[in-house]
Amino acid sequence: MFEDLLARWDGEEVAVRYDEPTRTWMFVGVHSTVLGPAMGGTRMKTYAGPEDGLRDVLRLSEAMSYKQAAAGVPYGGGKAVLAVPRVPAPGSSERRTLLLRYAGLVDSLHGTYVTAADMNTASPDMDLIGERTTHVLGRSRDRGGAGDPAPGTALGLFHGIRATWRHATGSADISDVTVLIQGVGSVGDRLADHLEEAGAGVLAADVDPARAEKTAQRVGGSVVDADAVIGTPCDVYAPCATGAVLTSQTIPRLACRVVAGAANNQLGGPEDAALLSQRGILYAPDYVINAGGVIHLAGYETLGWDDAMMQARLAGIGETLVGIFETADAEGITTAQAADRFARDRIAAGRMS
Ligand code: NAI
Repeated sequence: MFEDLLARWDGEEVAVRYDEPTRTWMFVGVHSTVLGPAMGGTRMKTYAGPEDGLRDVLRLSEAMSYKQAAAGVPYGGGKAVLAVPRVPAPGSSERRTLLLRYAGLVDSLHGTYVTAADMNTASPDMDLIGERTTHVLGRSRDRGGAGDPAPGTALGLFHGIRATWRHATGSADISDVTVLIQGVGSVGDRLADHLEEAGAGVLAADVDPARAEKTAQRVGGSVVDADAVIGTPCDVYAPCATGAVLTSQTIPRLACRVVAGAANNQLGGPEDAALLSQRGILYAPDYVINAGGVIHLAGYETLGWDDAMMQARLAGIGETLVGIFETADAEGITTAQAADRFARDRIAAGRMS
């Protein structure tokens, strides 16, 4: 199974370690270092079998190559998966042991791979990893890191929503636009604040109804039941929870003009981008509009940007999207295809330089 997966993958290398003391399969996928060290988060998760963890790392590290290229930061695409028997509690000695042992693996790659937080990992975990390797981003601010990237993701997403709405309707004003946020966690909740500030209306949905209620109340919005998101009329649908929300089942029922959200892998498959376009719904490719997180990490922690520079680069996500929409219009291709072409061209240019 490992052989089949690796033979079909077009990335550069994978480090695989079975860590006997923690009974954890550790996978580090280095998909591309053409534009810089392979950077991407460490996902900690329990899988049915190690091959599922490997499959995830291959897929996710490739997606990171595209995201980093579209973001215009000096990094390539990488990702790590810790396939654990069970996720150890934050602050536990079990977790500390696991992360320090994993940090040894990251360090042994000498900077080919630079890690960060992902599903089930956060800044305190990056602090621990930082005890054993320098190849880590997103440590706490008091440890000299850039902290949680969610504020960057949310602000970049806000700029992306404005740009997408402008391209779809010709209007730069979003004060009478209603945005349905699916998932008001770290990113969605902050997005609600940016929207309120711009005068836009907010509909908040979350599987945790208390969370949706809290966000809606704070920004003067309304709550939508988590099961009723697809089909609820809105101007902009912003998926900010889970992937695969845009499929042949859901797209015919969408009642929005624009889909623009932070969730990764929103499309069920490539054909779903065409379905959206046939319905006249403008789709902002997920890895372009949600790149504020990697911009936040690279800008603050590696490139030494000040806040003004960060604001300008996050606003640049809107400009990148407009370029992608224009390519899609001119070539008669989907916005997802135009985004992939944009990222691939940047990687190809990096290979030649
Ligand atoms: P989070 O875990 O803080 O928030 C997710 C929220 O969605 C939670 O409140 C959860 O209760 C809710 N939720 C889960 N399933 C739901 C469903 N089916 N319907 C409605 N609500 C649901 O996650 P975070 O950090 O806000 O990220 C959101 C999405 O954006 C994820 O897909 C993540 O991979 C992606 N993303 C996040 C970045 C970041 O900087 N945090 C960067 C790039 C992408």
